[in-house]
Amino acid sequence: MEPVNVHDYEALAREAMHPAAWAYISAGSGEETTLEENRAAFERMKLLPRVLRGVGSVDLRTTILGTEVGTPILVAPMGVHGLAHSEGECATARAAGSAGSLMAVSTASSRSLEEISVSATGPLWFQLYVYRSRPFAERLVRRAERAGYRAIVLTVDSPRWGRKERFLRVEQTLPSELDYSSLDEEGLSEEEFVPATLTWEDVTWLRSLTDLPVVLKGILHPEDAALAVEHGAAGIVVSNHGGRQLDGVPASIEALSGVVEAAGGRAEIYLDGGIRRGTDALKALALGARAVFVGRPVLWGLASGGEAGARHILKLLSDELESAMALAGQPGVTEIDPDLVVWER
Ligand SMILES: Cc1cc2nc3c(=O)[nH]c(=O)nc-3n(C[C@H](O)[C@H](O)[C@H](O)COP(=O)(O)O)c2cc1C
Repeated sequence: MEPVNVHDYEALAREAMHPAAWAYISAGSGEETTLEENRAAFERMKLLPRVLRGVGSVDLRTTILGTEVGTPILVAPMGVHGLAHSEGECATARAAGSAGSLMAVSTASSRSLEEISVSATGPLWFQLYVYRSRPFAERLVRRAERAGYRAIVLTVDSPRWGRKERFLRVEQTLPSELDYSSLDEEGLSEEEFVPATLTWEDVTWLRSLTDLPVVLKGILHPEDAALAVEHGAAGIVVSNHGGRQLDGVPASIEALSGVVEAAGGRAEIYLDGGIRRGTDALKALALGARAVFVGRPVLWGLASGGEAGARHILKLLSDELESAMALAGQPGVTEIDPDLVVWER
């Protein structure tokens, strides 16, 4: 079967992956209500297209914190791509580059951040988890700077790990230990992967540490968006961590408008969570996101087709977005009509 959409890749990846690895990437936390809601909310939203606008071609190009990209479909930071493919994040980085996208590389990646930057053919951001030791975080930031990463994404929704029950049941059957290269090189053992208790002062601390732009990932509340801007965040990722942290929070797309309004154009706003179609991306862009990040589907592509599979996922979503924009009378991603989206109540 030749995969024609992201869902086809999900089925292929499920067959290709070890059941415990599959459980790890698929799981949400707790009752998985937020995981389900991330999809359900997109389905409740409808598009009200415009016609007779002579939109023959569509321009997907935009800039993300000043970096030119060929598509607003970006790669979300995810740990341990090695669970999906032996080349891990190196393959994903090549896929992102050839798709004209940008990849955010996780602190918990299977390959070291330097190896990934050598493989990469496009722009990279570094996602930072601050574990107990701040000097350790500082060393990671220095390494990311030296390796040419263009922004630091501080994940702020993870003062502890969400309980992924689907995974807990099968964790012991994982064929090998999870491999965290960037962390291993710093001599941090898995027992030390304990998140630090962060406050807004840590955002100030991180900003004082580096000249790279700081993006905060995992904001849902408008007041936190306002505080993020006050503390100098250049970007905000509206995210509930793909339903893997606090269960019972709204879909990220439901929280988007409040964050966009609170930020008032003072930071770039991005969204992740449940993007499975180009039309999902279009809805987020219409509501004010500058770009969207895609999580699990990239790993589905990687697991079933390596670099080519991950690239095909990004291409499928970008092509779907391009087509949806033409059909909705929208010529460019930077100028999408806000009233394109209507909610079903
Ligand atoms: C397997 C997996 C690992 C993840 N690891 C990280 C991580 O290391 N850091 C982080 O900030 N977010 C992490 N996330 C969350 C993603 O960045 C993103 O918020 C989420 O996957 C988006 O939802 P989607 O999978 O529905 O597209 C992870 C998600 C998954 C599925």
